[in-house]
Amino acid sequence: MRSMSQPDESSYLDSVRGQVPLYDALQDAAVAAVPFEPSRVLELGIGTGETASRLLARFPDANVTGLDSDPDMLFKAREIVDEVSLARMEDPLPDGPWDLILSVLSVHRLTDEQKQTLFRRVREQSKALVIGDFVSLGDDRGETRVEGEAYPDTAEDLAAWCDGKIVWSEDDLVVIVAEYRR
Ligand SMILES: C[S@@+](CC[C@H](N)C(=O)[O-])C[C@H]1O[C@@H](n2cnc3c(N)ncnc32)[C@H](O)[C@@H]1O
Repeated sequence: MRSMSQPDESSYLDSVRGQVPLYDALQDAAVAAVPFEPSRVLELGIGTGETASRLLARFPDANVTGLDSDPDMLFKAREIVDEVSLARMEDPLPDGPWDLILSVLSVHRLTDEQKQTLFRRVREQSKALVIGDFVSLGDDRGETRVEGEAYPDTAEDLAAWCDGKIVWSEDDLVVIVAEYRR
């Protein structure tokens, strides 16, 4: 997925749907997988806010903070969520505690070690985690094609590292949910 210098909603969606044919199914599955009504939500790699807007359609009272390392991608998200944070998933998270940390199509940008560090931080600061992302099926199978550096893992590794369960999968996309405490 390319970081565009002046993304607008339609050009971003055209681009991402070309690279992730099941993009909309993944978004819907990730939001449907949220296990309880969250008050404070942190979305990692919020991009233009596609996932957040679907989350807010399901939970209109949620207070959502979006984090992204690309200021150009945050421009649209600013209109959708309560706060945005220009930051990297590799670094300590914004102050919690959070009811839910959510991330769609973003954690594949992290190396395995970075993912495991992130998941440790999430577990300390959040009641639940929902990840939607593409995974490795081996042998170059799967329809998702992303540009730039990507480190997809098997769904089983990703679930094990965050103590989560795979609740949805289609082609090379999965949704994983972990509940830490209520
Ligand atoms: C493909 S977009 C996904 C956006 C949105 N969640 C969606 O599903 O449409 C991935 C986002 O992750 C962000 N991102 C990539 N690497 C990141 C990192 N290390 N830390 C924070 N954000 C990152 C990118 O800037 C981009 O906005």
